[in-house]
Amino acid sequence: MIEIKLKEENFLAKGGERTCFIHPLQAKQIIKVIHSKDKHNNQNELEYQYYKHLQQKNVDFSHIAQCHGWVETNQGKGLSFDRIIDYNGKNSKYFRFYLRNKILSEKIEQQLLDELKLYLEKNQILFVDVSTVNLFCQEIAPNKFKLVIFDGLGARRLGIKFYFYLFCKVLVKYKIKKQWFKFLENYQRDKTI
Ligand SMILES: Nc1ncnc2c1ncn2[C@@H]1O[C@H](COP(=O)(O)OP(=O)(O)O)[C@@H](O)[C@H]1O
Ligand SMILES: [Mg+2]
Repeated sequence: MIEIKLKEENFLAKGGERTCFIHPLQAKQIIKVIHSKDKHNNQNELEYQYYKHLQQKNVDFSHIAQCHGWVETNQGKGLSFDRIIDYNGKNSKYFRFYLRNKILSEKIEQQLLDELKLYLEKNQILFVDVSTVNLFCQEIAPNKFKLVIFDGLGARRLGIKFYFYLFCKVLVKYKIKKQWFKFLENYQRDKTI
């Protein structure tokens, strides 16, 4: 595998555990590398396994950033994903941004939420870390939006519980419901700030 050189000019954003770079050879993709020197949750490893599971199930990927697997970089092993951008080529903004700035109408917000809930249930996808900065509100055409999750999928950490979830449909159904309520609480909180 060739080593991809990630430079400062490729930097896109930094999360709690990972730094996100624009793929220097494929502008439509990003690469996430672990930056945390301390103990971390192996988020890349976990997401790789979870996406592999979803790809095997052949789910619809329209509301989550598709994963393209491992790449070797000068900053260690990285995981590549589709880069989420708006129709005009600008970086998409967090759902939180739209809520706190009261950009969308109540009706549009409700439509976006209904669509995401239906999608997660239909494809049995676990969105566990339900922060409103773990998903973008992507503007797909002028004043047309879609919610896309890029972080917080599968589980919070690798462990027996995670593997259990992969094979227990009833548990997944229950967890999706439970986390959706938590997500709605976060959504409401953002609206009142
Ligand atoms: N698929 C993506 N497309 C565009 N930007 C992304 C994508 N995934 C992550 N980002 C940006 O990179 C930041 C860090 O990534 P994230 O997955 O949240 O890392 P962490 O797991 O450390 O929290 C995000 O807050 C977001 O701004
Ligand atoms: Mg994050």
